[in-house]
Formats: sequence, structure tokens, C-alpha cells
Amino acid sequence: MEFIDLAPATHASGTVRLPGSKSISNRFLLLAALAEGETVVRDLLISDDVERMLDALKLLGIHWERQGQGNDFLVRGAGGAFPVKQAELFLGNAGTAFRPLTAALALSNGQYLLAGVPRMHERPIGDLVDALRQLGADIRYVGNEGFPPLEIHPAPIRAGGRVAVRGEASSQFLTALLMALPLTGAGATVEVVGELISKPYIDITLTLMARFGVAVERDGWREFRIPAGARYRSPGTVFVEGDASAASYFLAAGAIAGGPVRVEGVGRDSIQGDVRFAEALQAMGAQVAMGPNWIEARAPATGRLKAIELDCNHVPDAAMTLAVAALFAEGTTRLSNIASWRVKETDRIAAMATELRKLGATVEEGADFIAVSMSRSEPAGAVSRGLTFTPNAAIDTYDDHRMAMCFSLACLGGVPVRINDPQCVNKTFPDYFDRFADLLAPVIAIDGPSASGKGTVAARVAEQLGFHYLDSGALYRLVALAALRTGVALDDGEVLARIAETLPASFEGGRILLDGADATEAIRSEECSAGSSKVAAFPAVRAALFGRQRAYRQAPGLVAEGRDMGSVVFPDAPLKVFLTATAEARAERRHKQLIDKGMSANIDTLLQDLRERDARDSARAVAPLQKSADAELLDTTAMTVDEAVAWVIERVRQRLPQAAARS
Ligand code: DC
Repeated sequence: MEFIDLAPATHASGTVRLPGSKSISNRFLLLAALAEGETVVRDLLISDDVERMLDALKLLGIHWERQGQGNDFLVRGAGGAFPVKQAELFLGNAGTAFRPLTAALALSNGQYLLAGVPRMHERPIGDLVDALRQLGADIRYVGNEGFPPLEIHPAPIRAGGRVAVRGEASSQFLTALLMALPLTGAGATVEVVGELISKPYIDITLTLMARFGVAVERDGWREFRIPAGARYRSPGTVFVEGDASAASYFLAAGAIAGGPVRVEGVGRDSIQGDVRFAEALQAMGAQVAMGPNWIEARAPATGRLKAIELDCNHVPDAAMTLAVAALFAEGTTRLSNIASWRVKETDRIAAMATELRKLGATVEEGADFIAVSMSRSEPAGAVSRGLTFTPNAAIDTYDDHRMAMCFSLACLGGVPVRINDPQCVNKTFPDYFDRFADLLAPVIAIDGPSASGKGTVAARVAEQLGFHYLDSGALYRLVALAALRTGVALDDGEVLARIAETLPASFEGGRILLDGADATEAIRSEECSAGSSKVAAFPAVRAALFGRQRAYRQAPGLVAEGRDMGSVVFPDAPLKVFLTATAEARAERRHKQLIDKGMSANIDTLLQDLRERDARDSARAVAPLQKSADAELLDTTAMTVDEAVAWVIERVRQRLPQAAARS
């Protein structure tokens, strides 16, 4: 089983640019497919659920294409029902694709099979099928009555009139029906039977339908009227907002562990109900600020969150985050009106209760509520104090992206936490764990050629910020030293990789140890320098050292220095610097260093060695030394070390103000 281990953390701060909303992405794609004209969907979420929708649309004869490398897609609308009249669709576990496509295909007069993963076949869909059958649709259950897979057959569809749909199990049934009804070309009235849950999602549906030219009239949450002659027309270009549910994890991190944490992509002007999660955090005592397109959260002035009781109808998805935030609150948090959790990606009430208990929480669960509290070892104090989290809990995620994401917050309890099967986040947020790590431990990547002074600068920056420090070159030097000492040829890639894999190296207070013996000076010899650049050219050696380097990323942050820190090892580093100087300046510095140490040195030989090493490091096939486009260039030829350090700190101040403020 795959897992990710989260190191204990007590502070979270920084800024996160959110991925696009899943709900909006899949609605826009379907509306664009049914509309007249071409639509450019900007900032689409690229994740499993959206890919299921894109694949399905392609099979149904809808032309779409990605524009460039970004997240913009052009969709050529069919101007009505799908052109392909026979298809078999696999929709994974994507409810936002399965339900609306069921409705649209039921009204498309074709022969279709819709199936998904086993869990999808346990998620009820009977309420939607019943509603569509009232219109004359011919839908059959292939397996269990009331559940996918579904077979749709051509059938005459009644134009207009009334349709009733139950609203208690999932708002997606109403969404699916509303989005499909304009295909009949006649006006229709949808009546909701029972209480409608997750109302904000219906708001999203109506807002987006209106963008495509269909204005639904509604009477409270009971009746919805599609006007006669309603047709979808492309509005040209549409923008997908950031995912408000995804925002909840980061905002909660800020509220739990200091902050401020700012999310960009949703804010006051958002059409997603889950932005109201911020109000719930506020009720827990968090300090929240909001702009049109951003939200920021920080811990309460007291440092402690307090428990709340909340009806979660309006924030069904983000409410899961509250259940985990409750671990950090004083008192018992009770979240009610969450029966829909039981029919989501997994039975979320049961899953949540089981996993919260692993962390030491007391949990009470009912048909439609959950109550969570955590005992404390002492009354007041800083946020991490007094928390009694059980360390090393291994959290199961039930193939549910939200379980994985919300339980990542547990490491803020100051304990190591393991998240099993973390790849389930691909459903809506493929790089979630990297973005989360950014908040806990930002990386400053400093790359550059030999003897550019990057080591000195990086170590000083790390010290000033109180960050960890990784001298990645030392690892390659240690491999070379170990090889030289044991007589291994420096061109024997296989044996070198084995040395790298099991390298008995450690770093202790500025000293570098190999096999327990001090090797700090030995790895700096000219022989080792030349040797290290040779061993570094072997992909297997680099691969063997990869995980070891990544493990240095720990709170509160890391300054990593080398050749490929920004390009390969920490590609998501929020600050990347390419630090260089002319070969002459570097040879001169090295010369002075050696003379100061009482060693003899010839500047011409040094210059020639440096040039050879530069050539080798830059020309190799894997992870060559080169400035990546997103790195900032720092040429230190005419700079003192102090000036170079100040230059980097200034960049930190701009990019990572929270980290700089702590220094
Ligand atoms: O930074 P340094 O001079 O100590 O590095 C020694 C050698 O290790 C260098 O010649 C190239 C190699 N190296 C690398 O390939 N990738 C890194 N991230 C760091 C060093």
C-alpha cells in the first residue's frame, strides 16, 4: 500500500493558489457541450473526475481541445443533444459526471451504457432515474435496482409539464435534471419533494446555466421553472473559480497553526457555497479576512479554537474539514444535517469517526450527525501545547480525496501522521500534498555552478531564517569519497548507485560524517570534487539520493543548495535562485580559500578544473546544471557574501513574508 508520512508540524503559513473547482469545471464542460457555439473554458481543473467527463464527451462526439500547456480548453458545442447515439461510458467515481450525463443522455434519444468503479455502483441514483422516467425516459438498472450501472434506450420524451424529484439524498439529482431539461425544447417545472440538501450547489447550477443563456425561475427551493424555448448558447469564454472546498484545508491550517494562510482563487464574490466555511472557522474563533478573490485565516488571538455546533446543510463538503479542526478546539464540536455524507465517495460519517478515533478523539456518530472532542493534558498555552494526539496514527482514506486532505491537518497536532493511499487526492487536487507541505515547510532552492559561493550564502540564509539546510553536493562528494576509499571505479555506475543507496552519512552540527568518522575536510579535496561531478552524472546515483534529499523538507522550512534543487528535487519550491559568478571570479575565490587554509594552489589549474567541471555538470543528460525559467538569477561576481545573503533574504521577504517575519 502506498502512503505518505507527514512530519510533526506546529506552524502553517503562506499563500496557496487553488486548483479549479470540480463542480464548476464539470458543469461548464457539459453546458459547453450542449450549447450552440464554441466555448473557451479557462482555468479548468485537471483531475480524475474532470478527465472522466472529458473522455465521456469525446466518446459522445463532442470536439474539445486543450489550448497550449495551460488549463484552458476549447469545447465545440453540439447545439442540443449529443451527436453520437450509441456509446459505453466509464465514469470512475465521478458523481459530477455520472448524474448530469445520465440526465442529458436520457433525453438524447440514443442507446448508452453508463458504468463506474465498484463504489460508484453503491451510490444511489434511483431518485434521478424515477424523475427521468416521468418524462418518458427508458432507463434500466444493469445490476442492483436503484444503483448504477445504467442502460439507457431511445424513447420518446414528453415535452414540458411537471417533474418531481426528491431532494434529500443528493442535490446532484436536481442539478442533473435542471441542466438536461432545456434539451426537450419545451418549458418544464421541477418540483422538489422533501427537504433539499446542499442548496448552495443548486445556486452554482443556476448561475452557470444563466451564463449559458438559460434563466431558471425558482420559487424558494420547492419549484424551478425552465422557460419554454430555453436553449444553451455559448457565452464565449468562461472562467473556473478556485475550489472552495479545497480552500477549507488550507484555511483550517491557518486557523489551527498560527497562520496567516491565504488562499487565492475564491473569495467574497465566489458562487460556491463552501466559501461560507470561513464563517464556521470564524465561529470557532479564527481570525478571517476576505477579499473579492481571496480568503485569509489565522489562529484566534488566544491561540485556541473553540468548539461549535453547526447545521452543515450549506457546507456539506467543507464540513469534513471542521470535523478534523474540532480536534484542535476546546469542547465538543457537533456537526449536524450531514446524512448525505453516507452516500458520498465512502460512508463519510463512519470513515470520519473511525479515523478520528485513531488520533485519540472521542467521537459520537448518528444517522446524520457527528460529535467530536479531544481531551487535553493541560488548560491553556500555545496552540501545540496541551494537545493529546496519538502519534503515528495510520489514517485510511477509503478512496476518498476529502478524507486524505482533511486528515493531513492532524500533523499540526505536533505528531507524525501517516496517510494511506494518498493518491486518491487525484480526484480533485493532484498536487495537494505538495501545496500543503509548502505551508509547513517552504523550500528555498539555490542552484549554481561549483565555487559560486552558493554554499556559504545558502547556509547563512538558512541560519537567518531558522530553516534546515541541505548541502546536496556533499552527498555526491560522499559517494565519491566512499568509492575512492574502497577502490570502486568512478565509472562503475551500478556499484556507485549501490553506495549511494546505503550511504552511511550523517550531518551533525556543521560536521559531515561518513561511517561515523569526520569527513568534512576530506570531501572538499580536489580529487573528491572532480570525482563527485563524475558520480553525479549517473542517473541511478541521482535516483538513489533523491528521496534522501526530499526528506530534508521539514518545518519550518528548508534552504537546499546544489545543481538541481529547483529543477528536479523541489520543483515546487516557492523561491528558486540561480547563483553564479564568472569562472575567473570563482577560481580566485577558491584560490584564496585554499591559501587561507595553508594549502598550495595554482589559479590557472583551478580555473581549468572549474571549467571542466562546469562542462561536465552542464552537459550531462540527467538533471544538468542550468538556470530554469522560474529561477531568479543572482550573479555574485561583484558582490560580497553579505550582499548576496541580503539579496536572497529580500526575495524571501517578497515571496514568503511569514518566513521572513519569523527570522
Ligand atoms: O556543490 P558541490 O560543488 O559540492 O557539488 C559537487 C558535485 O556534485 C558537483 O560537481 C555536481 C554534483 N551535484 C549535482 O550533480 N547535483 C546537486 N544537486 C549537487 C551537486
